[in-house]
Amino acid sequence: MATFPSSSSGFAFILLFLMTLLSSLIVSHQQPLLDSTEQDSVYEVLSSINSAIPWRTLFPDDLCLSAPHGIVCDYFFEQPNYVSSTLPQTAHVTELNFGYVSDYTPNPPCSPNSTLNSLLFTSFKYLRKLFFYKCFTETTVVVPNVSSSSFGANLEELVFVENPTLVGSLSGIIGNFTNLRRLVLTGNGVSGNIPDRIGDLVNIEEITLSRNHLTGNVPFSLSKLKKLRILDLSQNHFDGNVPESIGNLSQILKLDLSFNGFFGKIPYSLVNLQILEFLDLSFNRFGNFGVPLFLGEMPRLKEMYFSGNLLGGHIPEIWEKLGGISGIGFSDMGLVGKIPPSMGVYLRNLCYLRLDNNKLEGEVPEELWFLEFVNEINLENNNLSGRIPLSATFTAKVDEKFKLQGNSGLCIDEGFGSSKNEGSLEKLKLCNKSDIPNPVLFKEYNSVSSLSSVQVLSSPHGLITLGFYFLLLWYVQR
Ligand SMILES: *[C@@H]1O[C@H](CO)[C@@H](O)[C@H](O)[C@H]1NC(C)=O
Ligand SMILES: *[C@@H]1O[C@H](CO)[C@@H](O)[C@H](O)[C@H]1NC(C)=O
Ligand SMILES: *[C@@H]1O[C@H](CO)[C@@H](O)[C@H](O)[C@H]1NC(C)=O
Ligand SMILES: *[C@@H]1O[C@H](CO)[C@@H](O)[C@H](O)[C@H]1NC(C)=O
Ligand SMILES: *[C@@H]1O[C@H](CO)[C@@H](O)[C@H](O)[C@H]1NC(C)=O
Ligand SMILES: *[C@@H]1O[C@H](CO)[C@@H](O)[C@H](O)[C@H]1NC(C)=O
Repeated sequence: MATFPSSSSGFAFILLFLMTLLSSLIVSHQQPLLDSTEQDSVYEVLSSINSAIPWRTLFPDDLCLSAPHGIVCDYFFEQPNYVSSTLPQTAHVTELNFGYVSDYTPNPPCSPNSTLNSLLFTSFKYLRKLFFYKCFTETTVVVPNVSSSSFGANLEELVFVENPTLVGSLSGIIGNFTNLRRLVLTGNGVSGNIPDRIGDLVNIEEITLSRNHLTGNVPFSLSKLKKLRILDLSQNHFDGNVPESIGNLSQILKLDLSFNGFFGKIPYSLVNLQILEFLDLSFNRFGNFGVPLFLGEMPRLKEMYFSGNLLGGHIPEIWEKLGGISGIGFSDMGLVGKIPPSMGVYLRNLCYLRLDNNKLEGEVPEELWFLEFVNEINLENNNLSGRIPLSATFTAKVDEKFKLQGNSGLCIDEGFGSSKNEGSLEKLKLCNKSDIPNPVLFKEYNSVSSLSSVQVLSSPHGLITLGFYFLLLWYVQR
C-alpha cells in the first residue's frame, strides 16, 4: 500500500513530461499553422479597420499563435490519418471581432474611416463568428450582397452592434447561413424587408434586428424557425398584421415588436407560446380589441408591454395564474373602468406597473399600495379618486415609488403630506375632514393571510358571509 502514492506520483511525472514534450513539438512545428493567404487577409482586414496601427510589425508571427484580441483560430485535422492525428495539421481563423468593447474585450479598435473589406466574405471559409461594435459611425459603408455566395457556410454568429453608417439591404447580407445561431444587427442603418429566405436559417436561436430602418411585414416563413428563442424587431418601420403563424415559434422566450407600425388584431395564436417570458408589443397601431384575455393562459410571462396601442376596454381579470409577472406596461391604451383589485392580490412579484394616461376611475385597490417589490407604479393622468391609505411608515415609500399626478379625485390626509415631501404626494389635495377614514386601511399588512381577512371585511360580499356565519353560530348555540 505504501508504494501506491509514490508510483502514482511517478506516473504523474511521466505524464507531465510527455505533455511538455508534446507541447514543445506543437510549438516547434516547422510550418506555420495558418497559411499565408489567410494570414495576409487578416492583415488586410485589420488595416481597413484601422490603418493607423502597424499590424504586421506588432504581430509578425503566425497569427494563430499570437494575434490581437478578437482574432481567434481553431485547429483542424484535415486528413483522417492516424499516424499524424495527434498533431494538428492546419489552423484557420474562426472568429473575427472588431471594435474595442471594454478592457476585458479589447478587440482591435475601429477608426472613423473603417471600411468593410470584401475579403471578409471570401477568404475565411471556416469563420464561425463575425462581430463589429461601433465600427461604422462616420463614413457610410454599404453591406455587400452575399445572398448567392457561399459566404457563411460555417458561420454561427453574425453581430453588428451600433454601426449607424452601415447601410444596405438586409436581404443582401443573409448568405448561406444553415449553421447560423445568432443574427444580431442592432443600431445600424440596414434597410429593406425581411426576406422569405429567413426561413432557411433552420438552426437560428436569436434574431435581433432592433433599431435599423427595416420595412415590410413579418414573413410567414419566419414561423418555420423551430429553434428560435429570441425575436426582436423593435424600433424599425415594420407594418402590416402580425401573422397567426407566429404562434408556431414554440421555443420562443422573448418577443419584442415594439415601436413599429404593426396594426390589426393581436394574434390569438400567441397563446401557444407557452414558455414566453417577455412580450413587448408597445407603440404600434394594434387597435380596439381590448387587452387580450389569452394572456391569462401564459403562466411563464414575466413582462408584458402594450403601451401606446389603442386597445381600449377594461383591464380584464386575468391575473390568477400570472404570479410571476414583474413588469406591466399599459400606458396610453384608452383603458376605462376600475383597476381590478385582483391585480394587487395575485401579482405579488410586481416591480413595475404603468397604467398612466388612460381613463381609469374609481379608487386605487388597497392591495396595490402594499406590494412588496414595487419599484415604480405610475397611475398619472387618469380619473382615479379616493383617499390614499397612508400610514406614516408608508408615506416615504409611496412618495418615491408612486406617480399619482393628474387624478383630480385623489386626496391625502393632512399630516402625511408634510413639508418634507417633494415627490408625488406634494401636489395632491388634502382630503375633507368629513371623509371618515376606514380604520382597516391603516393596518400595515404584509402576509397574504392578513390581506385576505382585509378583503373579507372590506367587500360587501364578505360582510354578508360574516353576518351569515354569526347567525349560524347563534343558531347552533341555541
Ligand atoms: C483613415 O484616416 C487617416 C487619417 O485621418 C489616414 O491616415 C488613414 O490612411 C485612413 N485609413 C483608411 C483605411 O482610409
Ligand atoms: C450552401 O452551403 C451548403 C453546405 O452548407 C452547400 O452545400 C451549398 O452548396 C451552399 N450554397 C451556395 C450557394 O454556396
Ligand atoms: C443580391 O444578388 C442576387 C443575385 O445576385 C439578386 O437576385 C438580389 O436581388 C440581390 N439583392 C440585393 C439586395 O441587391
Ligand atoms: C403554423 O401556423 C399556422 C396557423 O397558425 C398553421 O396553419 C400552419 O400549419 C403552421 N405551420 C407549421 C409549419 O407548423
Ligand atoms: C371622473 O369620474 C367622475 C366620477 O368619479 C365622473 O363624474 C367624471 O365625469 C369623470 N371625469 C372624466 C373626465 O371622465
Ligand atoms: C370636499 O370639499 C370640497 C369643497 O370643500 C367639495 O367640493 C367636495 O365635494 C368635497 N368632497 C367630498 C368627497 O366630500
